[in-house]
Amino acid sequence: MNLPNLKEAKRRSKKEVLVHQYKSDESLKNLGLNKTYHIKTYGCQMNEHDTENIKAILEELSFTETNKMNDADLILLNTCAIRENAHNKVFGMIGRIKHLKESKPEVIVGICGCMAQEEHIVDEIMNKYKWLDMVFGTHNIYDLPNLLNKTMKSNKLEIDVQSIEGDIIECMPSKRDSKHKAWVNIMYGCDKFCTYCIVPYTRGKQRSRRSVDIVNEVKHLVNNGYSEITLLGQNVNAYGKDLDIEYSMANLLEDVSKTGIKRIRFVTSHPWDFTDEMIKMIQKYDNIMPYIHLPIQSGSNRILKLMGRKYTKEQYFELFTKLKEAIPNCSITTDIIVGYPTETTEEFNETLEMVNKCQFDSAFTFIFSPRVGTPASKMEDNITLKEKNRRLHQLNDLINQYALSNNQKYLDKVVPVLIEGYSNKDKTLMGYTDTMKLVNVKGDETNIGKIVDVQITDVKTWSLDGKICNQDC
Ligand code: 5AD
Ligand code: SF4
Repeated sequence: MNLPNLKEAKRRSKKEVLVHQYKSDESLKNLGLNKTYHIKTYGCQMNEHDTENIKAILEELSFTETNKMNDADLILLNTCAIRENAHNKVFGMIGRIKHLKESKPEVIVGICGCMAQEEHIVDEIMNKYKWLDMVFGTHNIYDLPNLLNKTMKSNKLEIDVQSIEGDIIECMPSKRDSKHKAWVNIMYGCDKFCTYCIVPYTRGKQRSRRSVDIVNEVKHLVNNGYSEITLLGQNVNAYGKDLDIEYSMANLLEDVSKTGIKRIRFVTSHPWDFTDEMIKMIQKYDNIMPYIHLPIQSGSNRILKLMGRKYTKEQYFELFTKLKEAIPNCSITTDIIVGYPTETTEEFNETLEMVNKCQFDSAFTFIFSPRVGTPASKMEDNITLKEKNRRLHQLNDLINQYALSNNQKYLDKVVPVLIEGYSNKDKTLMGYTDTMKLVNVKGDETNIGKIVDVQITDVKTWSLDGKICNQDC
């Protein structure tokens, strides 16, 4: 049994990052014969992509996917630790699954992802949820076949969580959710240690993949008909800083762009590492999309300093303005936390002021959530929940106002949309513009997978409606 260890998870040493090649274990290829699996994924794109790897590994073991949890022989919850409500959702689901397990004791239930990397969560699991079958972390997804084999043979809870800085595993198989757009990890972990954030503890140190591996993955996707990729990392702008060669995110953008993939996006950008060279690449290559997610987190310099963000609101605005001037029609979205410990009403108002200045296309907004082990969790949380909710609502009202006014600029315009499939609504197609605006379009399925010109006929706060252009557009 390997248990998570917070102290170890924080460690950052000069230890060399090793690159391992994933190999399937032929001897386990029938482990899941005639068995089904169901995975629930919580949290960020990184987790969604990990789930794509887990699915492919399970299918190599002959498991087949079912979308009905109650029918599955294996249930996995790929969890998120970023905020308390993500925790609560998972524990709520574990409660539901307990009833299922009571009526069907042979079903195997496992917890993986970021919550599995947290010491106090695994303690809680060992004390209160002994009926679970397996727990594994973010560092050892590649070892799932062995762990599952062990779990299927034993009738006790198997826990294997590594609290390590981490290595890189290449060639993991992936069962991608979409045939048109794909996630491509360019780096793992994070060394920024923003004071509120649990990610550097759950995902290890920053490890950049070798560019040749990334470019080969993208070429493979191009050859398989993919139109869009999103380069993924906790802080993609710092890509390459940990490599022993001079090679930056700007170099990577250029090399990926030359593969000929039609659309490139990248998330998430930390304002601190956004270089002029990156901006030049976005300007130079048409297949790098004019869309940037640039978390500001707060508009108060005192709070930004407490958060360990290493920029001021003035520096953020300078970068924001530079991006808007350099990249025509560029859309910029952000993340904002309200109610960081000791944030005053005046400081919150400074955040509103920054929103008024930047007029973001949209934003993910959050109430500060103390995460065990982070410096911010040790500060006195002196703001009432009522006041935090008030700030969140006021902020959301302003964000929505700018989301709508930004969308209004699209009315009657013709924009390129990658049609991904049907939306939930009947017979309506959906896709995204180059600037990452969701568009609902009437049309038939021959358009799916194509980038088509769409004329915008109506705008809402969170989406646009449009019609596919004929010659008369
Ligand atoms: N509380 C609230 N929001 C958080 N985020 C990260 N950690 C916390 C936390 N402890 C938000 C940040 C980050 C986004 C992914 O989640 O805004 O950019
Ligand atoms: Fe968390 Fe900051 Fe790293 Fe983003 S850059 S993952 S907010 S520590």
